[in-house]
Amino acid sequence: MRPGMNRELRFKDVGVAAATDAEDAPPSYADGVYMMAGQDRPSPRKLSRILMKGKDGMPSRKNRTALLVFFGQMVSSEILMASEMGCPIEMHKINVEKCDEMYDADCSGEKYMPFYRAGYDATTGQSPNMPREQINSKTSWIDGSFVYSTSEAWVNTMRSFSNGTLRTDENGMPPRNKERVPIMNKPSPHLFKTLSPERMYLLGDERTNQNPALLSFGILFFRWHNKVALRAQEEHPDWSDEEVFQRARRIVIATLQNVIMYEYLPAFLGDTVDPYKGYRPDVHPGISHVFQSAAFRFGHSMIPPGLYRRDSQCNYKRTVSGDLALRLCATWGTRT
Ligand code: HEM
Repeated sequence: MRPGMNRELRFKDVGVAAATDAEDAPPSYADGVYMMAGQDRPSPRKLSRILMKGKDGMPSRKNRTALLVFFGQMVSSEILMASEMGCPIEMHKINVEKCDEMYDADCSGEKYMPFYRAGYDATTGQSPNMPREQINSKTSWIDGSFVYSTSEAWVNTMRSFSNGTLRTDENGMPPRNKERVPIMNKPSPHLFKTLSPERMYLLGDERTNQNPALLSFGILFFRWHNKVALRAQEEHPDWSDEEVFQRARRIVIATLQNVIMYEYLPAFLGDTVDPYKGYRPDVHPGISHVFQSAAFRFGHSMIPPGLYRRDSQCNYKRTVSGDLALRLCATWGTRT
């Protein structure tokens, strides 16, 4: 059974790992089937230069912090992974205007940004009756796939199988990826080669090592699992490893659901969410294309250029180079 299944027969293949995205607007491919639309529209880079230009590092008027941003990145990883490139690769160019201050500083007029189209369900995209459908390789439910992955084999590499906990190193941290679980490990741009996958933390989502802030949430929920498992063990000393593990997993999932719905969403949207009144079989549980590719990426516009860190006494911690803030682009998983 695929993770996320066993819910509602009416939507039996929806919201599970590797399901196609949901539609909330008709597709508008150039040919109605699969070709990229918008070739006659302004380049996305031109639009972002016009629309997204502004000063970096401005404080939030609503007192939101970087925590909101990176919690949001975790939420997106929890419910979505639909933009990985397909096979065979389909490459396009995003036009860069001559003298673009970032990408064409020498005014060559010959710069462009590479763009890879997202993978799709190969049984679609062949006729107007069945336009191309992208695939979400995560479950769209908030079911802890960020913490436990969507595969039993994967989570098994993380489990201790002795007391319901996840394996840790001697400091209570997640182990490094000695098992070489397929964690995202793109070639480092400045080295032109991939680094060892064993340097990364073994956590439930292939993207968690991407940056230090997202990784902090990965470690936080990993440790929360172990904390809850230890409590369950104390309360039920006769329980097996499996019983303790599943109890802790349920509580971690409930924690995630609670924080996402009743703390994160109101802070992100500036609006409250109605209390849960029970399961609604008529609500489509999948993620729509518009939400995946545009609306929820709104979070990208909130990403700060760097992060301040504090020690246990609340003093600012300096980076190895003596700076106050940790520059995000210098700390990608591909760079460490
Ligand atoms: C430093 C912070 C972040 C980085 C470096 C980052 C980076 C990325 C990258 C590289 C992708 C794949 C892009 C593509 O291939 O199309 C992506 C996708 C996405 N990001 Fe972010 N992101 C960050 C924060 C956020 C935040 C704060 C949100 C929302 C609150 C968000 C929402 C999304 C969504 C919805 C997708 C599409 C996911 C998918 O379908 O695979 N991201 N992000």
